[in-house]
Amino acid sequence: MELLAADKKYFDEKVENYPWPTEPSGLFDPAKYLLSLGGKRIRPLLCLASCNAFGGDREIAIHPALAVEVFHNFSLMHDDIMDAADLRRGKATVHQKYDVNAAILSGDVMLIYAYKILMQLPQQYHTPCIAIFNKMAEEVCIGQQMDMDFEVSDTVAIMDYLKMIELKTSVLLGASLQLGAIIADANETDANHLYQFGKNIGIAFQIQDDLLDTYGEQAAVGKIIGGDILNNKKTYLYLKACQLLSDKSSAELVDLYSTKDAEPQTKIDRVKQLFKDAGVKIYAEELKGEYKNLALSHLDMVEGVNAKAKSQFSSFADYLIQRSV
Ligand code: IPE
Ligand code: IPE
Ligand code: MG
Ligand code: MG
Ligand code: MG
Repeated sequence: MELLAADKKYFDEKVENYPWPTEPSGLFDPAKYLLSLGGKRIRPLLCLASCNAFGGDREIAIHPALAVEVFHNFSLMHDDIMDAADLRRGKATVHQKYDVNAAILSGDVMLIYAYKILMQLPQQYHTPCIAIFNKMAEEVCIGQQMDMDFEVSDTVAIMDYLKMIELKTSVLLGASLQLGAIIADANETDANHLYQFGKNIGIAFQIQDDLLDTYGEQAAVGKIIGGDILNNKKTYLYLKACQLLSDKSSAELVDLYSTKDAEPQTKIDRVKQLFKDAGVKIYAEELKGEYKNLALSHLDMVEGVNAKAKSQFSSFADYLIQRSV
């Protein structure tokens, strides 16, 4: 973990000093604003750690590391419009601070910059890295569309939810690791196992995100608690509660999730009571554990990484799924 702290300092400096154009300020200021709010920097840290584990050069890995963080922030900027979220990292979201048009276009330009930054890699890495990035980026969009479709669907199965979070969230964690491995010239099998490690830990990471959205501390999480409930998000908590509750209570839960017009705090309190009656929290914890084990089984199969680096990845995985931030 000390290694990751050093990487975080290195990365934060690079992000802070990234030479965004100054004009037009309406286009670039929102990007600089969102990136300046920090965040955990998980994806670039995974990319740098992966490169390091295979003995690669972090001066090369910094390009995909910056690209995945800029892409992530682009996706958050648009996600906050889609989720009508007012708070991000404890501060006003971009569409609140500026306006929706600013958040749309600034997000667009960040996506373009993610590719521009990736193109700063040495030529031999362009084709493999852009292929990974393209696949990931399309999958994130598909996952986000599923997330939105599910808000208004009452036939979402747990399997559908798991596919949705794999796409909207976990493929980016997987790709971050894979990119770090590729630019360190790891073999393809190892890079794929590391991708699978990231993908599975990313699923547990999103389940934790959903848990924090309902049970977290707003001051730590930096987002409005209860947002998923108000948006009728078909999270594991909701879907499992529907399964476990009596017919009557489950019908009440479905009914609560049929509108966005209810009084917010009343809805949040009642839904949380139903989640509690169903005892869903413990099932969510168990499910995280299953994905963590799956992730670790892939980490185990990576050949070109030593035991010390593997144990660092394993501690990082624990942090990702137990975090309160
Ligand atoms: C939030 O990601 C969006 C999800 C995919 C869960 P993070 O929790 O990594 O957000 P920051 O970058 O640390 O703010
Ligand atoms: C966001 O998922 C995933 C992407 C941005 C692609 P969420 O909507 O759960 O993320 P938060 O909770 O707003 O950070
Ligand atoms: Mg969302
Ligand atoms: Mg959101
Ligand atoms: Mg969330």
